[in-house]
Amino acid sequence: MYDSGKIIAGLVIFIILITFPFWYNHGKASIAPDRVLPKDQKECVEEISYMTSSHMQLLNDWRTSVVRDTNRIYKNKKGKTFSMSLTNTCLDCHSSKADFCDKCHNYLAVVPYCWECHLTEKGNP
Ligand code: HEC
Ligand code: HEC
Ligand code: HEC
Repeated sequence: MYDSGKIIAGLVIFIILITFPFWYNHGKASIAPDRVLPKDQKECVEEISYMTSSHMQLLNDWRTSVVRDTNRIYKNKKGKTFSMSLTNTCLDCHSSKADFCDKCHNYLAVVPYCWECHLTEKGNP
């Protein structure tokens, strides 16, 4: 006879370990954050799937462009231009950092350090 008690105990521990990140987070991983999207605007800087997955990359490129190459104009894939500014462009449409950026970041436990320097309200460049 196999020691089924030990096998079951082993399985239970295994399942607890592999699902730990989910229940430790109170199951939050399966619920979408209720972030607020701009109502008066239909399009973001680039297409939505790219923004969702790569906005950090885009911001990084913007920063490099502004700080190193002093170029502040970004032309998107459709040829529309934007001023490369975290506060004055992104937060112009996404007017509440708290209801948009933070909702998603908090939910995913991402803490960008940008706001130590960058303003969250429109104002100074
Ligand atoms: C012209 C207005 C406008 C600007 C400027 C803008 N956004 Fe958006 N953004 C939108 C809209 C509208 C949506 C929702 C689009 C949709 O649902 O199809 C969106 C969606 C997003 C999403 C995806 C959200 C999700 O639920 O997956 C991210 C991330 C995002 N924007 C980040 C940024 C960042 C970062 C910047 C600055 C680099 C920026 N946006 C600039 C209007 C804008
Ligand atoms: C739909 C969810 C979502 C929204 C909305 C969102 N982000 Fe993010 N953001 C993420 C995820 C996921 C990451 C982490 C990606 C990684 O770790 O590779 C991230 C990472 C970042 C980073 C890089 C942080 C780091 O330390 O590497 C920056 C900067 C950033 N987001 C800015 C913004 C800004 C500004 C807004 C609002 C205009 C915004 N995000 C809205 C999901 C979102
Ligand atoms: C230590 C302070 C500091 C921190 C932290 C910081 N920045 Fe900046 N950033 C600056 C300065 C200074 C400039 C240049 C301002 C200018 O020339 O308009 C700049 C410029 C930029 C620009 C282009 C101009 C603008 O007004 O938006 C972007 C985009 C940008 N940073 C993104 C980021 C992102 C994304 C993060 C976080 C991952 C971040 N920065 C963190 C200081 C900082």
